[in-house]
Amino acid sequence: MPVRRSAIVILGASGDLAQRKLIPALAALFDKSEIDDTSVVVGSGRTPFTDEEFRQQFTVTDEFARLLHYHTGLAGLKAYIDDLGDFGTVIVFMALPPRVYADTAKSLAADGFGKETTLIVEKPFGYDFDSSRQLNAELARHFDESRIFRIDHYLAKEAVQNILVFRFANSIFYPVWNSGYIESIQINASETIGIENRGAYFDGAGMLRDMVQNHLIQMLCLMTMEAPVSLDAEDIRAQKINVLKAVTVDEVHRMQYEGYLEEEGVAEGSTTETYVEMKLSINNFRWNGVPVYLRTGKALTRKSTEIGIRFKKLPKLLYNRKGDIPSNVIIFQIQPSAGIVLDLASKLPGNDRTITRTNMKFCYSDSFAGEIPEAYQKLLLDALLGDRTLFVGAGETEMSWRKVEPFLDSGQLGHYRKGTVPQSKFGVEWIDFERFCPVCP
Ligand code: BG6
Repeated sequence: MPVRRSAIVILGASGDLAQRKLIPALAALFDKSEIDDTSVVVGSGRTPFTDEEFRQQFTVTDEFARLLHYHTGLAGLKAYIDDLGDFGTVIVFMALPPRVYADTAKSLAADGFGKETTLIVEKPFGYDFDSSRQLNAELARHFDESRIFRIDHYLAKEAVQNILVFRFANSIFYPVWNSGYIESIQINASETIGIENRGAYFDGAGMLRDMVQNHLIQMLCLMTMEAPVSLDAEDIRAQKINVLKAVTVDEVHRMQYEGYLEEEGVAEGSTTETYVEMKLSINNFRWNGVPVYLRTGKALTRKSTEIGIRFKKLPKLLYNRKGDIPSNVIIFQIQPSAGIVLDLASKLPGNDRTITRTNMKFCYSDSFAGEIPEAYQKLLLDALLGDRTLFVGAGETEMSWRKVEPFLDSGQLGHYRKGTVPQSKFGVEWIDFERFCPVCP
């Protein structure tokens, strides 16, 4: 059933996000009949275009192109939409630089967009605790928190959505998800690319702001939070905030790849980190004493995101008399392939008692036929349906800033060569994710 007649407004419509992600996602939803054909998609930006010129910028079907309209500038946008018809849902996607979110919200309200409007913004939500609080307060002045949809695109990744299902829909894992059984947790998000042409943005951010405060902390919350009372967005958010409150960041090491200072848009002598590793504790009954390691960086050896759960060591008895049997590991492979791997000890076939490693593996590509919907399709459809489960609440984002803020731009900066992974300063043995998680067929 298509969602009811909607006006979908994209501010910054001639920009990269609209071109690469938003319009293609809306076109795909339309093709799947998820969007009512009396809906409209209204682009808005500073450059003047006619509807026809705007439509020609995209490779879409004629049927979908008919939904596209364009309005130059913000002033008069609400009246323009009212002239197009009466819409049950109005959503406004701010495909704009984050520094203008607050002013734009004010201008939208002044133009007549009421509190019933759904507002979509994408991370970063501020650049530290104070600025995120100010931004949230400013948005809340003009729009209702229940209609503010903050995107963290990691939450739209299928394998990230599966974390709660894995934890709370499988009776075998639930009882062992605590410090009685788990020794440590590792979260890794590596990229091979450097900062590309984003120097001007990235140099003011660094990995703590760009990846940790949002994507990595979100994955950490899903992995460690208590079971929510229901699957309502508010109940899930409350548990994320609870676990975050218990988090202490114990140690942070920031590094920069050699050659970073020569990249375009990077300030002279910049100390922005392109790699960071962190050790955290979660001071609650479930996780007391279980260290959590986070690691994320650019210009590393492979593009991959994984979460590893290392279980406690066996007693030195029976097969493990010498203490040489590695403890079990569960890996959540988020990307490039999505799946879950359980590492196990097994007897090597034959007459002796040699123990070897093997694993049980679930790959999305083996188990599920069909395409996994692209993140923006999922997010836009949820926003149209008013489902906030995969969006980030104001409280979570502020609490997360509170935790990382003391480490922003501070401490010594190490260096590493592009295309290598810096050695851990914690002396922790990182799970060999590459061995466990080759790309699924
Ligand atoms: C974005 C960051 O939020 O996530 C980028 O701003 C980063 O710097 C990107 O490259 C990584 O996303 P993904 O989905 O490719 O892991």
